[in-house]
Amino acid sequence: MGFPVDGFESALRYDARPEDIFISTYPKCGTTWMQHLVWLILNGGEPLGPEQKMTEVIPHLEEVGAEVVGRLPDPRVIKTHLPVGLVRLDPWTRVIYVARNPFDCAVSFFHHTRGFVNHYDFAGGTFEDYLECFISGEVDFGDYFENVSGWLARRGERRFLLTTYERMSEDSGRVVRDVAEFLGPALRRAVADEELMAKILRHSGFAAMSKDQLRWASARPEGMPPFVRRGVVGDWKTYFSPEGARRLIERVEACPAALTMEAIWPDIMAEARDFARG
Ligand code: A3P
Repeated sequence: MGFPVDGFESALRYDARPEDIFISTYPKCGTTWMQHLVWLILNGGEPLGPEQKMTEVIPHLEEVGAEVVGRLPDPRVIKTHLPVGLVRLDPWTRVIYVARNPFDCAVSFFHHTRGFVNHYDFAGGTFEDYLECFISGEVDFGDYFENVSGWLARRGERRFLLTTYERMSEDSGRVVRDVAEFLGPALRRAVADEELMAKILRHSGFAAMSKDQLRWASARPEGMPPFVRRGVVGDWKTYFSPEGARRLIERVEACPAALTMEAIWPDIMAEARDFARG
């Protein structure tokens, strides 16, 4: 990761405030989509303008450092990819955690790693090579399984909202209601308004977020996939071999959150087992 060391170190010392709202994810699990949903909910359905940058309004803690985050107006909305043990949360801090099945996450992270040519020397890398790195946790931001296991252990806590990329794909209206309710009664009442809900869904949809992508990330070189890329559940089947699927299933089964992951993604796990049988 190409973040300044000072910023990263100060992020590790950032004491979250009770009124902070954290959006926590492993990379490629729907972070930006959730950031825009939260932005839309807090801003009456007005999307981020074409000249605005998500990283300025909902900054990435370990990229910009504690000082920048400290200057945000309340309630601060903060993105992090840190594992749970490295974030100094207040018991009242709200955390929205978005999880995505590891198969699609690996594919999405593969494209991300190819595309950010200034950060990674992987433009010509293959998916097979990438998957080996992903399985062994030797990728940017560390091990998927460590991140997911640590955060999922907070499931059921009052100030912790767990949602998934798959749920956002299946029923984003429900996720908008869940998030608004989690953020407080006034927002829950606000999103009950059909017009506001329609506006939020329109501006957070794949087509709308595919526009003006410099809002989310730096420009990609010609021929590389855009940041908002395919936006579907199940793209993994285009990239995995049965052997790759078998190896990733084994990794899921060996991780501390195995049972929770099986419970969150029963269909995907069943499909992957079928696929692995060839
Ligand atoms: P894919 O590469 O599978 O398309 P993150 O923001 O955590 O980096 O996640 C990026 C992933 O979320 C990418 O997945 C991207 O296309 C997807 N995404 C972003 N906005 C989306 C939207 N509005 N609808 C569906 N998927 C979206």
